[in-house]
Amino acid sequence: MESIQAIKQRFGIIGNTRALNRAIEKAIQVAPTDISVLVTGESGVGKESIPKIIHQLSHRKHNKYIAVNCGAIPEGTIDSELFGHEKGSFTGATQTREGYFEVADGGTIFLDEVGELPLTTQVRLLRVLENGEFLKVGSSKVQKTNVRIVAATNVNMFEAIEKEKFREDLFYRLSTVDIHLPPLRDRQEDIHLLFRKFASDFALKYKMPTIKLTDAAVQMLLKHRWAGNIRQLRNIAEQLSVLEQNRTISAETLKSYLPATSSNLPAVIKTSKAESDFSSEREILYKVLFDMKSDLNDLKKLTLELMKNGNTKDVEKNNESLIQKIYGNDEDDAEYEEDTVDNNEVLSIPEHAVKRDALDTIPDKYHFAEEIEEEETLSLQDKELELIKKSLERHQGKRKLAAAELGISERTLYRKIKQYDL
Ligand SMILES: Nc1ncnc2c1ncn2[C@@H]1O[C@H](COP(=O)(O)OP(=O)(O)OP(=O)(O)O)[C@@H](O)[C@H]1O
Ligand SMILES: [Mg+2]
Repeated sequence: MESIQAIKQRFGIIGNTRALNRAIEKAIQVAPTDISVLVTGESGVGKESIPKIIHQLSHRKHNKYIAVNCGAIPEGTIDSELFGHEKGSFTGATQTREGYFEVADGGTIFLDEVGELPLTTQVRLLRVLENGEFLKVGSSKVQKTNVRIVAATNVNMFEAIEKEKFREDLFYRLSTVDIHLPPLRDRQEDIHLLFRKFASDFALKYKMPTIKLTDAAVQMLLKHRWAGNIRQLRNIAEQLSVLEQNRTISAETLKSYLPATSSNLPAVIKTSKAESDFSSEREILYKVLFDMKSDLNDLKKLTLELMKNGNTKDVEKNNESLIQKIYGNDEDDAEYEEDTVDNNEVLSIPEHAVKRDALDTIPDKYHFAEEIEEEETLSLQDKELELIKKSLERHQGKRKLAAAELGISERTLYRKIKQYDL
C-alpha cells in the first residue's frame, strides 16, 4: 500500500494535520473496494483530490474517471447528461446520446456538489447504486453499468434531508464511508506551510522573488477565519505575489488583502466548481483599486470633518472608528481580530448622499474636485458592476457563493444588486 506521504506527493497535497492524514488514509483504505464514498467539507478544502486518489488506487484505474459538477448542469439536462437519451426524446435530441454512466462503465464517476441533484435524478441515481440499472431518457430499455461512485458536498446534507431536498435513502447509500476534510482554520500548522508553497509557486509563475511574511503577518494568517479555505489562501498568496513590490509582507499589508468577514457568517459556504480565483490580473487590480477608493473616500470624510469642525480633539473622538479604519493600529497587528464592520468591506463605495451632504457645507472651490471625483467613482462603479455580474454569472446567480468570492458579506452584495438593479 502506498504511504500517505507518497500519495501527498503524487497528488500535490500539502499539509500534515492529523485530520488530513486520516482522510487520505481512509481514501487509501477504501480505494480497492467498490464502496461508495461521500467526501464532505467546506468549500475550498481540497475535496477534489480524494476521488482522484480513490480512482487511481483502485482496480478501475485503467478505465474512465469522470468528474461531474451536479451544481453546474441545468436541471433540464442533467438526466440526459448522466444517463444519456434516445433520439427524439425531447426537442433538440437529434441523436441518441450516451450518458456518463454508460461511458464510465468499469470506471469511477465523481459527483461533485451532489446535494444539488434534482429529486427526479436522485431516484435514477439510487437505482444505479442499488443494482447498476438505468434507463436512458426517453427509453424503456433497462441498461446495466458497473460504476463506482464517489460524491462530494459542502452543504449540510442532514439539513437538505430535513427540507426534503435530498432523499435520505440515497444519502445513506452514497455515504457508506464518509471522508471529512477539515476547514483550514482547524489546520493551524498547515496554514503557513501552504502559504509558503503557494508563494514559491507564484514566484516561479510570475518570475518574481518569493514573498515572505513578517512574524506579525504570520500570526494574522493563523488567526484569520478562511471562509474560502485553501482556495482563498492561494488567491491571497497570488495577489500579494503579483502586486506587492516590497517582497516582505507586513501584517498591515496583509490585512488590506484579507476580506472583512462577519464573524457570524455560516461556517459552510459553497462555491461552484468554476474557479473563483481572481486569476486574471485585471480583476486583482480592480479589487485593489476599490480598496484604495474606499480609503480615499474615508480620508475625504475625515478631512471634511476637520475643515468644518476645526477642533481636532472632538473630531478625533467622534470619528474614532473611521480613524482606526484608515490608519489602523500597529499594536493590533499581533492581536488581529477580524473586522465585523460592514462598510469596511473590500468592494464598498460609500453612499453618495453622505458625501454630498457634507460637501454642500463647504466653499465652491471644492465642488470642482467633487465633480471629477464623481466621474471617477462612476467608472469605478462600472468596474465594480462588471465584477459583481461576472461573479454572479460564475455562480449561476447564487449570492452566497458570489459574496464569498468577492470577499464581501451577502448583505453588502444584496445592497449592491439593488443599487445596480441587477
Ligand atoms: N492540501 C492541499 N495542498 C495544496 N493545494 C490544495 C490542498 N487542498 C486544496 N488545494 C487547492 O485548493 C483549491 C481548492 O481545492 P478543491 O477544488 O479541491 O476544493 P473543494 O473542496 O472541491 O471546494 P468546493 O466545495 O468549493 O468545490 C485547489 O486549487 C486545490 O488544488
Ligand atoms: Mg470542488
